[in-house]
Amino acid sequence: MKVALGCDHGGFPLKKAVADKIKQLGFEILDFGTDSSESVDYPDYAEKVANAILSGKADRGILICGSGVGVCITANKFKGIYASIAHDTYTAAQGVTHDNMNILCLGGRVISPKQAADLTEAFLTATAKGQEERHLRRIKKILEVESKNFK
Ligand code: RB5
Repeated sequence: MKVALGCDHGGFPLKKAVADKIKQLGFEILDFGTDSSESVDYPDYAEKVANAILSGKADRGILICGSGVGVCITANKFKGIYASIAHDTYTAAQGVTHDNMNILCLGGRVISPKQAADLTEAFLTATAKGQEERHLRRIKKILEVESKNFK
C-alpha cells in the first residue's frame, strides 16, 4: 500500500512516529512535508495528500495538523476524499471498514506519538474489502449526497 503523508507545523511533532509505523508495516510513504516546526498553512498539505489519492499515486493518506480539524475540513472539500479525525483505534479502523475513510486526520497537539503510531496501524491494517450489504448501502447513499452537492 502507498500512503500519502502530510502535516503542518502543528502536526510535525507526530510525523516521525507515523512515518516509522508506516515503514514498520511494510508500506510505502509519499512524503508531502512539512519538514520542520516553522509555521506553514495546513490547506497546502491537505491538498497535496488529497490529490495524491485522487490521482492514484497513493491508496490512503494521513494528515496531521494541530487539532486535526483544519486538514480534515480541507481534505473533505475534494470529491472522492473521505477524511476523518480518529483519536481512538476503534474509530480509526471502523472508519475504513464501515465508511470507506481514505484519509486519517490526527491532532499533533492532542495525542502522543505512541497514540499516533497505534492509530496509524489501526487505520492502515483495516480493510474495506468484503463490506456487508448495509455498509455498502450507506456508502452508496454517501456517494449520492456527494453527487448532488459537488459540482
Ligand atoms: C495552526 O496553528 C493550527 O491552526 C493548525 O495546525 C490546525 O490545528 C488547524 O485546525
